[in-house]
Amino acid sequence: MCGIVGYLGQKQALPFLLSGLERLEYRGYDSAGVCLQENQQLRIVKRKGPIKVLEADLQSLKFNSQLGIAHTRWATHGQPNEINAHPHYDCQHQIAVVHNGIIENFQALKQLLENEGHHLVSETDSEIIAHLIEKFYQGNLEEATLHALKLLEGTYGLAVISAQENKIIAARRGSPLILGIGHDEVFIASDVSAVVEYTKQVVYLKDGEIAVITPQGYQLQNIDGEDLQAQIEEIKWTVDQIEKDGFKHFMLKEIFEQPQTIANVLRGRLFSDQIKLSLHFNPRKVKKIIITACGTSWHSSLIGKYLIEKIAHLPVEVDYASEFRYREHLINPDDLLVVISQSGETADTLGALRAIPASETLGIINIVGSTISREVKSGIYLHAGPEIGVASTKAFTSQVASLILLALYLNKERTGNLDLELVKNLEDISRQVQIVLDQAKQIKKISQSLLSAKNLLYLGRGINFPVALEGALKLKEVSYIHAEGYPAAEMKHGPIALIDQNMFVVFIVNHGPIFEKIISNMQEVKARGGKIIVICDLENDVLKKLADFIILVPSTSEELSPLINIIPLQLLAYYVADAKGINVDKPRNLAKSVTVE
Ligand code: F6R
Repeated sequence: MCGIVGYLGQKQALPFLLSGLERLEYRGYDSAGVCLQENQQLRIVKRKGPIKVLEADLQSLKFNSQLGIAHTRWATHGQPNEINAHPHYDCQHQIAVVHNGIIENFQALKQLLENEGHHLVSETDSEIIAHLIEKFYQGNLEEATLHALKLLEGTYGLAVISAQENKIIAARRGSPLILGIGHDEVFIASDVSAVVEYTKQVVYLKDGEIAVITPQGYQLQNIDGEDLQAQIEEIKWTVDQIEKDGFKHFMLKEIFEQPQTIANVLRGRLFSDQIKLSLHFNPRKVKKIIITACGTSWHSSLIGKYLIEKIAHLPVEVDYASEFRYREHLINPDDLLVVISQSGETADTLGALRAIPASETLGIINIVGSTISREVKSGIYLHAGPEIGVASTKAFTSQVASLILLALYLNKERTGNLDLELVKNLEDISRQVQIVLDQAKQIKKISQSLLSAKNLLYLGRGINFPVALEGALKLKEVSYIHAEGYPAAEMKHGPIALIDQNMFVVFIVNHGPIFEKIISNMQEVKARGGKIIVICDLENDVLKKLADFIILVPSTSEELSPLINIIPLQLLAYYVADAKGINVDKPRNLAKSVTVE
């Protein structure tokens, strides 16, 4: 949830620490701080608010340090304020720690430390780590850190420095951390985006690994202090990919990237006569599929259920990871567990993957090297590039495209059949998505009518019911306008009571067998004075009469329609939020990667 960076090298540490924090700001941004070692002293500066507040205050201070750590926080334990911001000192200001994750036994450890005379100042669980290290410190930082880590229950990605030693200790258990390897310098970060500008060579720490970084280089150890071999990997993403590409916000840039990102999912996998996925289970043995995920990824899972049941004729269950992980797990040996996560780090999704005793697991993940991607037996990477906007957009369509491939693959492997029309339409889908994007100006105009709206309903049926859920989630996340998604026919079972002249209802309709039924739902809304926005692949006189606004989208197979229908909904949410002056990429109270339960 929060971001960590660290530096040890020949250059000044502060410029990297600040630029690294800026890159990680999307992970957490209610306070930030740095700690630099200088003349055998530690100096911590931290501020509440976004990183620019910290940066402005640091300008008037002089530093000369080649060793430092820094943190950007999204509060879990205690208010977002300067005291709770990281880094945290020990009693003597000889040790400083930055930490991501949650220490579950922190109350007990805090009590123990206070009984021994330690004076803790913050409400955080993280501060106890500095004091535990102080308790064990006898002139060797890694030894004291290893001692302290053995007492911690919970999760951490952390970095520790001391006033007296020229080294950083970094450790990971359940919260991501990487080393960036430069020339005579080592960077630490909780996400590769922080270091990509400085180096392409990275080491992904695994759970239970500790890195000791000194001016001579770095060495990995396990919790018992035994040396481990490090594996250097090359980052393929460039700085350009991470930057905004001239768009006002990352969210908008990412919405516009979708013709490309959908094509990336299909490249090398979709062929006119076959689907190539390198999966390590036998598709013929699978009897049932269980998909679990959170948030937007849960919405794509619901679309996955529809796709796999329709195309591959296999039963699919979909569950919120946060619920599923704590329920009775009625799993059979022939069940396949699919976990979907953009970040590959979502705590509940990872928790479900670990809790559910499935013999075959498949991850649909964007971030290469993320924890979930390492723990599943088979995987489909989205190859969508970094998604920086907190509200997920391009990852959603890439997940849906992956699920279409999975459904086609399962059916082909199990029956030998491939739906050639679907394959043909899939080959054309990026072009059709671009056609919707080309209507952005018109959608922006429509969005202006929503500025004063307080409540919206999003209604869809079949495969477009999850699209309605996702459209509503996008709007509420970034514009703070209340919105709910419903299966269209459910409206009359309750939500219809809400409809009056102030209510906007967004209908997602495909021309097909249930088109007429949705028209009846629209009439019910119209009769009560509600305003209607329709996303549809067909415009006729009835629709024109009923709808206040129609967004016409290209026609495709019903199975592919979510890839097209979600685009106007993403754009509507974006333009409403932007017109309201909201920081669209970092809406309040949200963080990009939810690594706490
Ligand atoms: C919504 C959003 C969240 C995430 C959810 C799961 O726009 O981004 O709902 O979808 O937190 O995240 P991942 O996919 O990283 O597991």
